[in-house]
Formats: sequence, structure tokens, C-alpha cells
Amino acid sequence: MMIPLFDSQLQHQRLAPELMPLVHEICTGGRFILGPHVEQFETAFAEYCQAAHCVALNSGTSALHLALRCLEIGAGDEVITTPMTFIATLWAMEYVGARSVLVDIDPRRRTIDPDQIERAITPRTRAIVPVHLYGQPAEMDAILEIAARHGLAVIEDAAQAHGARHAGRRVGGLGAIGCFSFYPTKNLGACGEGGGLVTNDARLAARARALRDHAQQRRWRHETQGYNYRMDALQGAVLYVKLRYLDGWNAARRRLAARYRERLSGVETLDLPHVFQDSGSVEHLVVVESPQRERLLQRLSAAGIGAGLHYPVPVHLQPAMTHLGYAPGDFPNAERLAERCLSLPMFPELEPQAVDAVCDALLAACEAMAR
Ligand SMILES: Cc1ncc(COP(=O)(O)O)c(C=O)c1O
Repeated sequence: MMIPLFDSQLQHQRLAPELMPLVHEICTGGRFILGPHVEQFETAFAEYCQAAHCVALNSGTSALHLALRCLEIGAGDEVITTPMTFIATLWAMEYVGARSVLVDIDPRRRTIDPDQIERAITPRTRAIVPVHLYGQPAEMDAILEIAARHGLAVIEDAAQAHGARHAGRRVGGLGAIGCFSFYPTKNLGACGEGGGLVTNDARLAARARALRDHAQQRRWRHETQGYNYRMDALQGAVLYVKLRYLDGWNAARRRLAARYRERLSGVETLDLPHVFQDSGSVEHLVVVESPQRERLLQRLSAAGIGAGLHYPVPVHLQPAMTHLGYAPGDFPNAERLAERCLSLPMFPELEPQAVDAVCDALLAACEAMAR
């Protein structure tokens, strides 16, 4: 692969002088799980998200699961979210026995369409989970207003949107709980698995802290079903170092995304991501749309370019979700995006010349297919 979809080698080479002494310190110190490195990261990440508390965990999936547990959402409850997301968003509902009620996306923003939320609300609805897909914040003002009017909690799935802003405020701390993944390919990625939740509610934070550690509020006392969702010290140390670079990396992503737009605009068979005036997107992925997506993907692969699909099957059409009772055609905007989406290489260390090479290959492929 000449130009990969994602590559963190250069980032880690550059950070090695900062990271390696920490690896040595942790390996020789013997405090491997939670501890001061994780606490230091929690304090810094909460501040970064403009939230009062951060609870560091072992994955974004764990964060979503704990968010529902902390809010005491379970069997018989309904949670509204979107079919255009990674399946983990829905695992959280499955884990607690709640039902996922899906609402289509706005085709331009590609996040949950607030205009369609209200008709999905029933007496059983407890929460709305907007997903800030590809780094683009959902329409949080409208969502928070609907949630407040109906007494619902808002849980942000911010796994793809570290540092993104909605109306000037960072995502994550806008609703009751914000959930992040620190999977290595994310805008803020660990050197292994990682996740966390942020909240302004001290009670919810305390509950999450207990649940992640076998539900121990006191040692050897387990009041409820708990989990081993703890972050390890190495990931806490790495994430603390990397957090200082996040704004710079997000700025680099924006420059690269602008370059893609500039080079690819005006191609009839290619729809580019919409640019919003107020956009606080952090460009986690650059996703173009084409009716000939499969052929473009093949041609890019043949040219050594690592394009990807996020996501080729919307969650309501996944075999694991058949019990929800949805069918093809239920969410036309999500289904259209799933059929047409094509993710182009994007990571902060990507050279502008590499973006040009991707664009050249893509333009050549579009032209060849138009003939
Ligand atoms: C939108 C979304 N939600 C949740 C997750 C789950 O995060 P993790 O892989 O850390 O469990 C991801 C990660 O891929 C994601 O993209």
C-alpha cells in the first residue's frame, strides 16, 4: 500500500522521546492499572472537553455501556439513535436489554435528523444518542431542546469527534454523558484499547468509577453488577502526552480536508462532504459519495491507495439487529450513504502531496468510468 487510509508510525516515531521514558517508568514501577498516569489524563481530558469529570475506561464500547448503566436505563426502555454508526453504539443498548429505536440521518450533515426524532419518542423513551459521525458534530441545540422538552437524557457518541465544537463548545460535555473511544485510529488514539466518558454530574461520574472497577465503591463491597473496564497506566500516560498535540493534529486534518475539497470539487459523479458555516468538525474521516463506489474502490486499491468504507451496511440491516424488526428502505438517507460512501486517506501526518496523489488517482478513475 503506497498511501494508507491511516498510519500512526510517523506520529509515534516523533513522540518516542516523550513516550519511551514513560514506558520504562511504568514497566519498572509496577502500577499497571489506573493510578496517577490515568488520573492525570482524566483531569486533563475533562478540562479539554470543558466538562467537570472524566472517567477513563478500556474502550468506547465500555463508555457507551456504562453511560446507560449510570443512567439506569435497562429492560423495557427505549433509546433513540441513528442507523449510520459503528455497531458499538447499539451494543450498549443490547448489553442493558434496552431497545434501540432508529431515526434516519440528515443527508448533508450525516448525523441524526432532529426533525424526525420527535415522532420516534414513546412513553418508554429514556435517552437520545446522537453520533458525531466522521468528526462532524450532530445538531446538538435542536437535540438538547427536544430532550429537555420530553425529559430525556442525551448521551453523545463522540468516539469520532475529539475536540469537535458545536456552537463554540466542545462535544462530549453537552449532554448528560459524552462517550469517547481512544482506539488507535481515532483523532486521539492510544497505543492499544482505550475509552472514556465525560460528564458534568459528580454522581454519574462516581457511579461510572465504581462500575468500571467491579462495582466497588468500597474495597471488597459490590453493590451491583460491575465490570472490568479500567484503563491501564500505559494508555493513560500515552494519552496524556498526546492530548497536548490534539488541537494541532485536528488543524492539520482540517487543512488536508480543505485540500481534498479544493482538488475534487466540480466532479459530477462525486459528492463531497458538505461544508457548514458553523462547522466545528475535526475531520476524523473524509467521506466522499459516488454511485460507482465499488469500482472507485477497486481502482484506488489497484493504484496503491487505501480507501475504506464507513460503513457499507447500516446497523439496522446487520444480521445481529434483525430482532429490531427494521427492513431495507426504512432509513433511505442512511442506506444511500452506506451504498455510496468512500473514505479517503486521512491522518495528521499525511503529506499534502499524498492528498494530491489520491485526488489524481480518484479524478482519473472518475474520468475513465465516465467514458
Ligand atoms: C461511532 C463509534 N462509536 C463507538 C465506537 C466504539 O469504540 P471502541 O472501538 O473503542 O470500543 C466507535 C469505534 O470504532 C465508533 O466509531
